Amino acid sequence: MTATESLNQVRNIVVMGTQWGDEGKGKIVDWLTEDAKAVVRFQGGHNAGHTLVINGQTTALNLIPSGIMRPDVQCYIGNGVVVDVGHLFKEIDKLEEKGVKVAGRLWLSPSCPLILLYHIELDLAREAARGEGKIGTTAKGIGPAYEDKVSRRGLRIADLLNPEHLRARLTENLQYHNFVLTQFFQRPAIDLETLLAQLLPYAALIQPMLCDVGLALAQHNQRGESVLFEGAQGTMLDVDHGTYPFVTSSNCVAGNAAAGTGVGPQFLHYVLGITKAYTTRVGSGPFPAELSVQEGVGQHLSSIGREIGTVTKRVRRCGWLDIPLLRRSTLVNGVSGLCLTKLDVLDGLPEIKICTAYELDGNRIDWFPSGADDVARCVPIYQTFATWNESTIGITEYKKLPVNARIYIEAIEQHLQTPIAMVSTGPDRCQTIVKKTF
Ligand code: GDP
Ligand code: IMO
Ligand code: MG
Repeated sequence: MTATESLNQVRNIVVMGTQWGDEGKGKIVDWLTEDAKAVVRFQGGHNAGHTLVINGQTTALNLIPSGIMRPDVQCYIGNGVVVDVGHLFKEIDKLEEKGVKVAGRLWLSPSCPLILLYHIELDLAREAARGEGKIGTTAKGIGPAYEDKVSRRGLRIADLLNPEHLRARLTENLQYHNFVLTQFFQRPAIDLETLLAQLLPYAALIQPMLCDVGLALAQHNQRGESVLFEGAQGTMLDVDHGTYPFVTSSNCVAGNAAAGTGVGPQFLHYVLGITKAYTTRVGSGPFPAELSVQEGVGQHLSSIGREIGTVTKRVRRCGWLDIPLLRRSTLVNGVSGLCLTKLDVLDGLPEIKICTAYELDGNRIDWFPSGADDVARCVPIYQTFATWNESTIGITEYKKLPVNARIYIEAIEQHLQTPIAMVSTGPDRCQTIVKKTF
C-alpha cells in the first residue's frame, strides 16, 4: 500500500524534521516520491546530509532533493536554499557517475543566495573565535551566506550570469568581507581573481538549469501532479523556534516551505513531521534528555543507530524521546501526522523511557521553552515502558510489530494528540510501515 493510494487528487506534502535534524527525512522523501512528480528543497544548503538506501545501495545527498533516485521525478532547489555552486556540481557528478541521470531533472531558482569562499572562511573564523561557546556548525558557510542575504548585500545565482556585473558585485563584497577577515579575525584576505576564476566556469553550466520554481510547482499541480517539499535540519535548529543561538541560520519549519519556494501556504496540504524514535543532536547546545554515548542505552542508540553525521562525520549525541520538544514541534509546524523512524534501534534495549515533561526552576512544564538558557535548566521527567526482544527490522505491517512496540507508538500519539501515520523499521526504502493513510 502506498501512503496516498486512496487519493487521486493533488496532495502536496511537506516533510520536515521535528527534532535536531537527521530524523530520516531523506529516506521518507524518497519513499513518498512514488506518489509525487516533483520534490523541492526550500531552505538550508549542503549542511544537510540525507541518506537513502535503495535495495541495499546507499546514496548520500546534501543539496540535491531526495527525489533524484526516481527517473520520472523532477527536482527543484527553491529560493530559500543557499547554494555553493562548486559543491552542487560535485554532487551532480557523483550521482551521474553512479548512473543517476541528473541533467534535465534538476532546476534551481535564480534567486538562491550564493555561498562563496569568504562565507566559509568567516564561518571557520567565527567558530574559532567562539572557542568553548562554539555552535559546532558544519563549516559550510551557511550562516554567513544567510547573513549576506538578509543584509541585502549578498550575491544570488542570477548574478553569476553577467561576468562584468559579477566582478563589480564581488569587488564591493570583498571590500567589506576582507576588512572583517583581516582586521577583526586576523585571517588572510580572499583574492578577487581567484574567486572569479573559481566561479565563472559555472555560469554556463548553471544557466540551463534555472527556472521559475514557484510557477513550475504550480504547473505540476495544474497537471494533477503532487509536489513534495523536503525540509532540511529540524525544528529545534530553526533560527526562530530552536535552541537559539545553537541553531542553523534558516527557518526549518513547515511554514517556510511556501516562502522558500515561491508558492502560497494553500499549496501545503499535509505536514509530515519526521521523528526519530529517540533523540539525537550534532553540535553544541542544550539537550535535556541526553544520555552518555560511552555506556549503556546511549551507547546502544549510538552504535546500533549508527549515529555518525553524514556531513561532518561527527558522533551524534543521543538521548530519549522528548515529548515537550515534540509538542512544540507539532504546534509550530502544524504537523498533520508523524512518521516515527528508527524504531528498530530500540529492539532489545534493557529499558525504554520517554521524557513527558520537565521541571524548570521548581515548576512542572509540558512545553519546550524557547532559547538555549531556559532549555539548559530543564530537568526531564520520565515515563518508563516495557521493552521488546523481537526484531522489528524490515517489518512492513503495523499489526506485526511486537505489542510493546505498539504500546510505545500509541503512547506517543496520546501524548502529542497527533497521529503517527508511518513507522520506519530500517534504512531501506522498503522497510516502511503505513499505519494510517493520509
Ligand atoms: P535526514 O538528515 O533526516 O535525511 O537523516 P540522515 O540521513 O542524516 O540520518 C538518518 C540515518 O538513519 C541514515 O543513515 C538512514 O539511512 C538511517 N535510517 C533512516 N530510517 C531508518 C530506520 O527506520 N531504521 C534504521 N536503522 N536506520 C534508518
Ligand atoms: P539534516 O538535513 C543535523 C547543525 C550543526 C550545528 C548547527 C549549525 O541532515 O537533518 P550550520 O552549519 O547549519 O550553521 O550549523 O546546525 N546542523 C545539522 N544537524 N542535521 C542537519 O541537517 C544539520 N544541518 C546543520 O551541526 O549544530
Ligand atoms: Mg542528515
